[in-house]
Amino acid sequence: MELICPLCGQILRREEKQYRCQENHSFDIARQGYVNLLTVQQKHSLSPGDTREQVLSRRAFLEAGFYAPISEELNRAALEHGAQGEILDVGCGEGYYSARLAQAMGAPLTGLDISKEAVRCAAGKYKGPTWLCATAAHIPVREGSVGTLTSLFALTLPEEFRRVLRRDGLFFQVLAAEDHLLGLKSVLYDELTHKEKNTVPALPGFCLVESRPIRFSFTVEREQLYSLFAMTPHLFRVGKSGVQRLADTSQLQDTASCVLNVYRAT
Ligand SMILES: C[S@@+](CC[C@H](N)C(=O)[O-])C[C@H]1O[C@@H](n2cnc3c(N)ncnc32)[C@H](O)[C@@H]1O
Ligand SMILES: [Zn+2]
Repeated sequence: MELICPLCGQILRREEKQYRCQENHSFDIARQGYVNLLTVQQKHSLSPGDTREQVLSRRAFLEAGFYAPISEELNRAALEHGAQGEILDVGCGEGYYSARLAQAMGAPLTGLDISKEAVRCAAGKYKGPTWLCATAAHIPVREGSVGTLTSLFALTLPEEFRRVLRRDGLFFQVLAAEDHLLGLKSVLYDELTHKEKNTVPALPGFCLVESRPIRFSFTVEREQLYSLFAMTPHLFRVGKSGVQRLADTSQLQDTASCVLNVYRAT
């Protein structure tokens, strides 16, 4: 996949320890194997994106296999729809889903996340792919160079996604449904508020090929319960009493409920 310079938009060439464009802007490849293409102007905080705690909690929870059915369904859908070409995973986190998808498809992978902690963690474990710290709002990838795009529990920016995807390229999106993790929410909050959610959004520049629900139940023991909590946005929303109730819970039965949408770039 051809990377472009986030400062001037020219093609980046890979050298031994860095990427460089014709204008001589250069970006070091970190010791852990990722490259930081996030410019100061693109950063809206000192450490944007998920924190180290969220990333490590997600790694622990996903590695324990709780969400393997989501990964398997994604891989199945990609093979069924004949997904091809280079994969770009936007908001890749610590890389669990896209590393498995790349293996299933036998395709090269580039993972992108605004969180340096996330790409550092991904690069530490998965050595083959290219890991970029960058923003989804300005994807440092040449237009039309992506065959398969994924955004899993992450943001969707249709215009930018359409720019990097080649015509007929596929976009796989996973969104949490309204009833996702209701068990965890009922421990954390005194009252559950009901929010309508559009889980099959119309995206300009794309046509919807298929939408499949993914729903399954699982049981989490005390040791993994905090990891589940800390990988969600509830980590920053919940009050003291909710955290205490979680600490008092020894086992939780819950249901993962999400939607896998497959779009084709038109
Ligand atoms: C809920 S996590 C999902 C991570 C991964 N896809 C998974 O399912 O395990 C959302 C991810 O999006 C990243 N993110 C948030 N804003 C972003 C942006 N503007 N550009 C790129 N990544 C972003 C966060 O740092 C975080 O890693
Ligand atoms: Zn440049």
